[in-house]
Amino acid sequence: MRKIVIAGNWKMHKTQTEALEFLQVLKSRLEETNEAREVVLCAPFTALGFISKSLHGGLIRLGAQNIHWEDKGAYTGEIAGEMLTELGVDFVVVGHSERRQYFGETDETANLRVIAAQRHGLTPILCVGETKQQRDGNETETVIINQVKRGLVGVDQSNLVIAYEPIWAIGTGDTCETTEANRVVGIIRSQLSNKNVTIQYGGSVKPDNIDEIMAQSEIDGVLVGGASLDPVGFARIVNYQ
Ligand code: G3P
Repeated sequence: MRKIVIAGNWKMHKTQTEALEFLQVLKSRLEETNEAREVVLCAPFTALGFISKSLHGGLIRLGAQNIHWEDKGAYTGEIAGEMLTELGVDFVVVGHSERRQYFGETDETANLRVIAAQRHGLTPILCVGETKQQRDGNETETVIINQVKRGLVGVDQSNLVIAYEPIWAIGTGDTCETTEANRVVGIIRSQLSNKNVTIQYGGSVKPDNIDEIMAQSEIDGVLVGGASLDPVGFARIVNYQ
């Protein structure tokens, strides 16, 4: 059985106070029938402890947006696994395209972070996706397969989520055709030894396209950026039909 994981990636948004306001609205709008869906909020490091206390182990799970591969040491600005687990974090986003684009993340460092996350009992959400140029050059398949293979060297596939996020669809309002997203997710699955890994789609997911996205056979959830910042809209995404 593949698990459904609906995750919000707040990126560099929301203070502790804003996070609390968000939670109050979201909690009031989650439908009881949603217990089969894991709802994850990937918040900035500064809000994690605060959110954790407000969750009291309810339906919503906590995610971080990065993890370092070493357990401690002279790595200014980095966060280690134990620092996250102590706060009640269960998931961590790894290798997001913004980390790759602005902070020098590679398939190799993403791989180290995935392994570190698992070592600490966290579920890594490994992000992969092609650029517009790669898609136009018919390289999508090769790029995605390489990212998956390199990102998963030595990785335990029993505790893993993969997010297919075509870079050209992120924050652009330009969602990937749902059938095309489904096809690429199927290609990702074909590369895995564990066919039950949860594979999400990410890239301009919104309340008005979530039902169609979740109706696709290969897609097991979504990683939502912009639309996860509004609790009413995000609740609608979580409560998809
Ligand atoms: O990680 C989520 C993401 O990059 C998608 O962002 O704003 O297009 O939903 P957005």
